[in-house]
Amino acid sequence: MSEKPLLEPGKATIVSVRRLTEGERVFEIELDSGESLGHEPGQFVQVYVPGFGEAPISITSSPTKEGPFELCVRAVGNVTNALHSLEVGDNIGIRGPYGNGFDVGFFEGKDMLFVAGGLGLAPLRSLINYVVDNREDYGKVTTLYGCKTPLDLLFEGELKRWEESDVMDFSVTVDKCPVNVTWNDNVGVITELIPGIDVDPEGTYSAVCGPPVMYKFVIQELKEKEIPDNHIFLSLERRMRCGVGECGHCQIGEFYACIDGPVFNYSDIKGVEEAL
Ligand SMILES: Cc1cc2nc3c(=O)[nH]c(=O)nc-3n(C[C@H](O)[C@H](O)[C@H](O)COP(=O)(O)OP(=O)(O)OC[C@H]3O[C@@H](n4cnc5c(N)ncnc54)[C@H](O)[C@@H]3O)c2cc1C
Ligand code: FES
Repeated sequence: MSEKPLLEPGKATIVSVRRLTEGERVFEIELDSGESLGHEPGQFVQVYVPGFGEAPISITSSPTKEGPFELCVRAVGNVTNALHSLEVGDNIGIRGPYGNGFDVGFFEGKDMLFVAGGLGLAPLRSLINYVVDNREDYGKVTTLYGCKTPLDLLFEGELKRWEESDVMDFSVTVDKCPVNVTWNDNVGVITELIPGIDVDPEGTYSAVCGPPVMYKFVIQELKEKEIPDNHIFLSLERRMRCGVGECGHCQIGEFYACIDGPVFNYSDIKGVEEAL
């Protein structure tokens, strides 16, 4: 990532920071212009940390949330570690929202199956909460979430509310549980949850987001459930620079992840070798 942003970002201020796990924090951000971000679930922003550079980060809050928008950030490198060192009142730059996002209007009236692995919950959370806040517009909602261990659970309080409410069927699993940690739920990879769910394949549309290794196996299980390829939507990550279709960094075959994605219909990309 370059130190200087490619395009001029808008000024923004961090208004709250919340620690979720050892490596992940949620930042509430306000644009200094006073405008709302005006995003769709699944879109991302380019976050500029002065002196460090830019990184694409999904907007994790739903557009139905009033006030500041939220980013859930895992500290992995230059920009994200710098962001984790910032505090309430510090300034950053924001470009966007960018990308296509999920078409919430198209999903209206349909059953929804959300499959989130690890940090993949960050972009899907925006869509899930949008659907929860407009619950009467959607059919049956099922959410499956998997992460490495109970210590890696993101948005734990919110997961508990989803699990206890009747707005959706919710299941969670962890790959493994350390001996000194209490966990009374599923243990195993997320794909193991799919055979147990009850879906009407023709009426169900799935939104999937997780680490690259997850997609192939989740798609296999969704096919076992006879969910058609064009009912499967995947949010894909690629290394990005401009975020607006100009630099070519994020190319996937004939597509640019930043403008044609990050949300892709599986039927459009299943033949593209480097996509999955
Ligand atoms: C659309 C989109 C949405 C995203 N949403 C989120 C989100 O909500 N939350 C979040 O935490 N992250 C998200 N990411 C991922 C995030 O943008 C990356 O992790 C980004 O690289 C972090 O920037 P950094 O400067 O902190 O890390 P970097 O310094 O870029 O390093 C990140 C990792 O990539 C490795 N790396 C560095 N350069 C290369 C290279 N050229 N090729 C391969 N690997 C390399 C590093 O070793 C390190 O492990 C998203 C990415 C995309 C494209
Ligand atoms: S990031 Fe530049 S074209 Fe997609």
